[in-house]
Amino acid sequence: MRNVGITGLGHYLPKRVLTNADLEQMVETSDEWIVSRTGIKERRIAGKDEKNSDMAIKAAREALKDARLDPARVELIIVATISPDSSFPSVACLVQKAVHAPRAAAFDVSAACSGFLYALTTAKQFIRNGVYKNALVIASEKITTYVNWNDRGTCVLFGDGAGACVLKPVAGKRGILSDYIHAQGHFGDLMMVVAEERDPLDQQTKMITLPHIAMQGQELFKVAVNSMAAAVGIAVKKAGLKLSDIDYVVPHQANDRIISAVARKLHLPKEKIFINIDRYGNMSAASIAVALYEAVERKKIKRGDYVVLVTFGAGLVSAANVVKW
Ligand code: UT7
Repeated sequence: MRNVGITGLGHYLPKRVLTNADLEQMVETSDEWIVSRTGIKERRIAGKDEKNSDMAIKAAREALKDARLDPARVELIIVATISPDSSFPSVACLVQKAVHAPRAAAFDVSAACSGFLYALTTAKQFIRNGVYKNALVIASEKITTYVNWNDRGTCVLFGDGAGACVLKPVAGKRGILSDYIHAQGHFGDLMMVVAEERDPLDQQTKMITLPHIAMQGQELFKVAVNSMAAAVGIAVKKAGLKLSDIDYVVPHQANDRIISAVARKLHLPKEKIFINIDRYGNMSAASIAVALYEAVERKKIKRGDYVVLVTFGAGLVSAANVVKW
């Protein structure tokens, strides 16, 4: 059994910025409400012609370069997404074609905001068991496709982006030390993509309602805090560590108040937790991948640190990994 580590990182963020001031022109909201309830100041929105796969490919190229991995040698590509270009081909196959990785197996994983850690954990098993020598794991979301821009309760929350990493065997007691992935399907109706139901043969209905996000925010908030705190505890224990051993936490960025509540529950100082929700909002699976990229880039995470990655999302699904960097 080989230890598996993250040996390269990449990211991509669309150029277009949507500020809270912009949203004040679109729905009845205020910068004060959005910042105090969520911590979000602005988010990125993919261009009309910018596909999910375009973002995934850019993040993937940067991760491959950072890991000095020749695309021709890539053996596995997994893309975490709930907003693919279309249901098929998978975004992973589109990435394979663009980066020229003919040897790779490629597939998408659907686990909403927990997708990146579900994909990371899946890819890790293949390398650990010796099936593949490396993997390219990407989280890419054009989640604003599903935003109802008339619903102030949800439209202020989301943004688009992509993050990626390369996994390879690493020497010594380093790399991904533990993983925990879990689902609570009975909470599925707290957040879902809905479209108005109508008879498919109804010729009279002219209005087409687009699928959009529907959410029970308050209920989701409570489950999110409990699920994330529990996931951290389980992953840390599985790694044979104590919470006091943890140097840094990179959480999913759904709401700054959720992150604070998890920190309080676990008695973790907020200085040990990476936050970038103010600049990007909730990018679903891509949030934690971009946060990890920025935490490493800003030297918040150093070689030898014990790092916890933790997420939750629609499904509901939660996940956590402990990584020795
Ligand atoms: O990645 C995964 C999933 N998503 C989440 O984890 C989200 C979890 N939930 C949350 O983050 C929070 O519940 C929200 C940020 C979505 C909402 O915050 P809240 O403190 O739970 O607000 P609320 O839904 O209880 O709404 C409070 C008030 C309501 O007005 P009334 O009924 O008290 O008069 C809302 O209509 O705030 C109103 N409101 C707004 N006001 C201004 C809701 N959205 C807005 C808005 N601007 N954008």
